[in-house]
Amino acid sequence: MTSVDADRVGPSELVLVLDFGSQYSQLIARRIREARVYCELVPGTTPWAELEPRRPAGVVLSGGPASVYQPGAPQVDPALFRSGVPVLGICYGMQLIAHHLGGEVAPADRREYGPALLEVSEPGRLFEHLPARLPVWMSHGDQVRRLPAGFRVLASSANSPVAAFDDGGRLLGIQFHPEVHHTPQGVDILRNFLYRICGCTGTWTPGSFILRATEAIRAQVGDGRVICALSGGVDSAVAATLIHRAVGDQLTCLFVNNGLLRREEPERVLDVLHGSLDLDIRYVDASQRFLSALQGVVDPEEKRRIVGREFIRVFEEEAKALAERRGEIDFLAQGTLYPDVIESTAPETAGAARIKTHHNVGGLPSGLRFRLIEPLRYLFKDEARAVGLELGLPEDLVHRQPFPGPGLAVRCLGEVTPERLEILRAADWVVVDEIKKHGLYRQVWQSFAVLTPLRTVGIMGDDRTYASLVAVRVVTSEDAMTADWARLPHEVLARISNRIVNEVPGVNRVVFDITSKPPGTIEWE
Ligand code: XMP
Repeated sequence: MTSVDADRVGPSELVLVLDFGSQYSQLIARRIREARVYCELVPGTTPWAELEPRRPAGVVLSGGPASVYQPGAPQVDPALFRSGVPVLGICYGMQLIAHHLGGEVAPADRREYGPALLEVSEPGRLFEHLPARLPVWMSHGDQVRRLPAGFRVLASSANSPVAAFDDGGRLLGIQFHPEVHHTPQGVDILRNFLYRICGCTGTWTPGSFILRATEAIRAQVGDGRVICALSGGVDSAVAATLIHRAVGDQLTCLFVNNGLLRREEPERVLDVLHGSLDLDIRYVDASQRFLSALQGVVDPEEKRRIVGREFIRVFEEEAKALAERRGEIDFLAQGTLYPDVIESTAPETAGAARIKTHHNVGGLPSGLRFRLIEPLRYLFKDEARAVGLELGLPEDLVHRQPFPGPGLAVRCLGEVTPERLEILRAADWVVVDEIKKHGLYRQVWQSFAVLTPLRTVGIMGDDRTYASLVAVRVVTSEDAMTADWARLPHEVLARISNRIVNEVPGVNRVVFDITSKPPGTIEWE
């Protein structure tokens, strides 16, 4: 499969974030986008000659785990500093500026990690209209010891005499992290850089994205045909809607019921997507096929492989049938988001251990002969949601919590049988219903039930019971990379527990999962 260049649909106003491996690089990009400026992450060591033709309005150098003075530490191409393009170095990025322009970077007397008070002595444009004392978040072991010639100190903290500097013009550095929540005015500092120094005006809006994306899709697809697998989640729905807006009925969607969906899910998804959006959707009920393939399987990775494999088979059969009826299909549309793109290409994650094999509907084999079209490839999840709303998708769909591709198979611990799935569906329904009733659905990242293979002893009326144990998992998270268990009010927990044991036959005990990620994962399998 080849990717489509037209997927890159940023507006003319572009800021590049040169990534030196900080855990916060993605967050920097998100904050810049939130300030309505389009930005992309690129590897920090990319030669400037490759980046300059994109005419960035500004460049941000991210933090990173290395020390700039060590052999082999990633370096920035110094041609950037001669280009006249505004540069903001953050932490390691600031140290790179100092290192390359004749300053000195050395280990700090002590590592500075955590909150600090920034004293601004010279606001310049970076701290314009901000208080002279700002709480900031520090995380560094090295510091700038001597300024490069022509630079001045803008701010300092107790442990960092040079906590911010500039050359009086377009080169600036800050030792703290403006992108994290612990730096409350961080967004204002970034905005000052974008608007006052780079001259950006804030052209990145859902509306401007839709205009550009539809033009790009039209140009790419021409009079070709597109197929898109809908999962019921927000990403594939937004991608399909956008493509439909661009090329109308040249798009056909496929919605496969794998028998692992939640209660009423297939009906509701179809209702919404069919009814209000007028998409051409082919619904395939393949539940029997998936459940037969899963019979007797208890290993989580094996379950994922089977669901992925069966999905591909169904997809291929359906695409073939569709091509026979209505002519060749040229493009496959997917709802891939920017974090997936960053994570699958990030050098520092390339060698990371595989925790779980993720089979999205997107996990299709490279042997398929379609060209790939991924209109959301440069969007963060909240941006995809904003685009969905702008396109008229219902709030309900746009704000749905994520649901794993292998569906209930990885929440039904042990063997996946129709009977056990029914128990799980009923328990899950109660969890989500109560979370919604208490207005918590959009405050948490995910809320669901897990059916364990354990049975415990209980008592109901005068009878002893020996029935299943259900776990309730509710987590908060920004991006699913880390998560914390939600501190639900006790009344909500009590309601959920009480309803599950009363309404779900076969369950006599409910536990609440109080494990964060790491060390746990969000799903139990
Ligand atoms: P974990 O359990 O790894 O989950 O902490 C992180 C996020 O990914 C979702 N998830 C999956 N999504 N296919 C998917 O499409 C999968 O196999 C899969 N496993 C987990 C999970 O729901 C959470 O949002």
